[in-house]
Amino acid sequence: MDRRKFLASIGGASALAAMSASEKADALEQAMGQELDTIIVKSKVCTTYGVESKPIVRGIKRDKLFMMGHDPRLARMSDKPTLIEFYKKRFGSVQHMLQSARLAKLNGLPEKIVLACLLHDISVGGLIRMDHGYWGSQLVAPYVDEEVSWAIKYHQSLRFYADEDVGYSYPKAYIRYFGEDFKPEPYVAKDAEYARNHKWYMSARQITINDVYSFDPNVSVEIEDFEDIIGRHFKQPKEGLGYDDSPSAHMWRTMIFPNNFL
Ligand SMILES: [Fe+2]
Ligand SMILES: [Fe+2]
Repeated sequence: MDRRKFLASIGGASALAAMSASEKADALEQAMGQELDTIIVKSKVCTTYGVESKPIVRGIKRDKLFMMGHDPRLARMSDKPTLIEFYKKRFGSVQHMLQSARLAKLNGLPEKIVLACLLHDISVGGLIRMDHGYWGSQLVAPYVDEEVSWAIKYHQSLRFYADEDVGYSYPKAYIRYFGEDFKPEPYVAKDAEYARNHKWYMSARQITINDVYSFDPNVSVEIEDFEDIIGRHFKQPKEGLGYDDSPSAHMWRTMIFPNNFL
C-alpha cells in the first residue's frame, strides 16, 4: 500500500519509529484491511446484513479499482461449477445438511426425500438466511423434481408447527432462539396451513423430522456419500451452475461472486 497513506493512518513517522516490529506488522495489516474494504464492496444482503458496509467514497481520486471477478479471499470456483463443488467451496451448514440426509437414508426414505434433506438449508449457508426455504426452493427448482423444491419451500413454515401424530414436536431450539411467546408471522402460519392440506405434505414434513440439530460426533458424513443420489436426481447443467440461463442461474452466480461491485 501507499507509504504516505500508511504513515498518515498511524499518526506519522515518529509514531512508526516508536513501534515494535510486531506492532508495525499489526498496524500494516489493519491499514491494508481497511483499504481492502473500500475496494471490495460487500453485499448488503448476503454477507453483512446491511449493518457493517461502509459508504462508498465518492468524488476523490481513487488509486484502486473496485473488485470484479473472483474474490481472492474465497476458494476459486471452476468455470463449470457442480453442486458438489458448491458444497465444498461455498456452502456453510454442510454437516447439518449431510447429517439430515444421512438420517433420512437410515429412516428408509425415498431417494428424492434424501435429496430434499441434503439440499434443504443451502440458502442459509450459501445465499441468505431470511426465508431460506423459499430462496433454497427457487435455487434448486430448475434441477430437481417439483416435489423436492416444493418440500424445501414449505419445510421452513412447517418447522414452527408440531404434528405429534407423525412424530414431530416444536423444536426446543426455537424456544431458546425466539423465546417462549414467539408467534410466526401470518404468512408463515398461512403457508404451513396450506402445506398441511397438500398432497406433498409428508415430503416437506419429512425434512422437518430429519432436520437434526444434535450430531453424532463419531459419525463423519461426506458429500461424496450422496454422489449417486445427486447423480440420479439433480439435473446438473452441462454449462455449470450459474451459466445455464435457468431462472435461478443468477442466484448461483451470486454465490460464485458474492462480493462483486456490480
Ligand atoms: Fe431450514
Ligand atoms: Fe435444517
